Amino acid sequence: MADSGNSIAQGQHLAGTELMTRSAEARAQYAKANPKSFALFEKTKASLPGANTRSVLHYSPFPVTIARAKGAQVEDIDGHHYQDFLGEYTAGLYGHSHPVIVDAITKALANGLTFGGPNAVESKFAQLMCSRFAAVERLRFCNSGTESNVLALSAARAFTERTDILVVNGSYHGSVLAFAGNSPLNLPFPTHRMTFNNLESAKQQILNLDSKLAGVLVEPMIGAGGCIPADPEFLTSLRHLTEQTGALLIFDEVMTSRLGASGLHGLYGITPDLVTFGKYLGGGLSFGAFGGRADILDRFDPARAGAWPHAGTFNNNTLSLSAGFAGLNNIFGPKESDAFLVHGDTFRTRLADSIHSLGLPIHITGKGSMMAFHFCDEAPRAPYDLHRIPAELYELIHLSMMARGQFHARRGMINLSLAASDEMLETFKNIFVEVMREYGELIEQAVLP
Ligand SMILES: Cc1ncc(COP(=O)(O)O)c(C=O)c1O
Repeated sequence: MADSGNSIAQGQHLAGTELMTRSAEARAQYAKANPKSFALFEKTKASLPGANTRSVLHYSPFPVTIARAKGAQVEDIDGHHYQDFLGEYTAGLYGHSHPVIVDAITKALANGLTFGGPNAVESKFAQLMCSRFAAVERLRFCNSGTESNVLALSAARAFTERTDILVVNGSYHGSVLAFAGNSPLNLPFPTHRMTFNNLESAKQQILNLDSKLAGVLVEPMIGAGGCIPADPEFLTSLRHLTEQTGALLIFDEVMTSRLGASGLHGLYGITPDLVTFGKYLGGGLSFGAFGGRADILDRFDPARAGAWPHAGTFNNNTLSLSAGFAGLNNIFGPKESDAFLVHGDTFRTRLADSIHSLGLPIHITGKGSMMAFHFCDEAPRAPYDLHRIPAELYELIHLSMMARGQFHARRGMINLSLAASDEMLETFKNIFVEVMREYGELIEQAVLP
C-alpha cells in the first residue's frame, strides 16, 4: 500500500513537472513573439497597476496589446492576426466595425454629443427593447452591466422594503457584485448564496430568509463561471418560491439576452420581476439597462411624488443608444437571433463531438453562441473552483491556441460573433482539437486523481 501510494505521488509530481516545463516553454516562445506588447506592458505598469484597468483582461505572462480589429479578426501590435473567438466576452456579437453600426455611430456623431436633454433614439430603443423582451414592460438605461445589477438590486430592496439578497455561489454580476470567492470590493448588501441548479439549496435559503429577502439575482445561464445553463425547472422553482415569500426575481441577462429573440427568460417562458442587460446591446459601446414590471419601474417616474432618483450623465448618450438600436433593429432581429441560437448549438455540438472522440476529460458546456471548455470528468452543473486544475494547464492551452492564431478567454470561454464565417469556425475547431490532442496526457494527469 505504502509503495503504491508513493508511486502515485511520484507520478503526479512528474506530471506536474512536465506541465511546468511545457508551460514555461510556451511562455518563453510567447514572450519572444510579442516584444512590443511586452515593452508596452512594462511601461504602462508605472501608471496602471499591473498595466491593467479591467481585471479580466490580464493573463500570464502578459496580455498582447490589440492594435486593431475588423469583422472576426483582431491584430496585435506585434502584427499577429487572430481569429476572434473571445467576442469581447459576448459584447462583440456584431463583430468589429459592422458597417450598419459604424453608419449609425457616424450619423449620431454628426448631430452632436450629449445634449443635456432627452433624445429621440432613447425613445425608439426603449420601445424596441420593451417589445422584444417578454418580461420588460418599462426600462431604464445606464452605462454598464454592473450598474444595471446594482440598480436592480437597489430597486428590489426599495420596492420590497427588505434588506437581503440571494445570489448563486460562484456567479459574477459586475465589479462590485463578484461572488466567486470573497471580493473585499463587493457592495455591503447582506448577501446569501445558493448552489446553482440545486433546488434544495435554493428552497432552504429562500424559505429561511423569508420576509428579509428582497431579491434573488441569477443568470439563466452562468456566463463567466463557465457557460453552465440552468435547468429550466430550477428557474421555474425560483419563480414560485420568490412569489411565495414576496422577494423579487431578477434575471441577469447581461450576457444571455443574445440567446434567442427574447433572451433566456423568453425562451423558457419564465417572467422575472426585473431583467438586467448590457454588453452587445450597446452595439459595441458602453451600455447597461434594467427593466421589468411597470409597477416597479414606474417608481422612477420623476413626476411622481416620492420618485426614486436615478441620474447618470451618460444614461441616454446617443452614441451607445444609436449603435445599440441599429444592431437590435437592423441586424439582430427576432428571426436572426433565433437562427443564431441554433447556429451556435450546432457548432458547439460539432466541437464537443470532435473533442469527445479524443476520449479526454474535457467537457464543453453552453448554449447558442456562448460556450466554455472544462477540464473535468463530468460536465459541471454549477460554477466550480477552477483552482482545482493547475493554472499552467489553462495557460498552456491558451498560449498554444494564440500561437496558432486563435483568440479565446484564458478561462475557456468561447463566444461566436455574427462575423465568424463557417470556414473560420471549422479552422478554430480543427486547431482546438489538435491542441487538446497534443496535450492530452497532461490534461488527463491534471484531472484524474
Ligand atoms: C452576467 C454579467 N453581469 C454583469 C456583468 C457586468 O457588466 P459590465 O462589465 O458591463 O459592468 C457581466 C460582465 O461580464 C456579466 O457577465
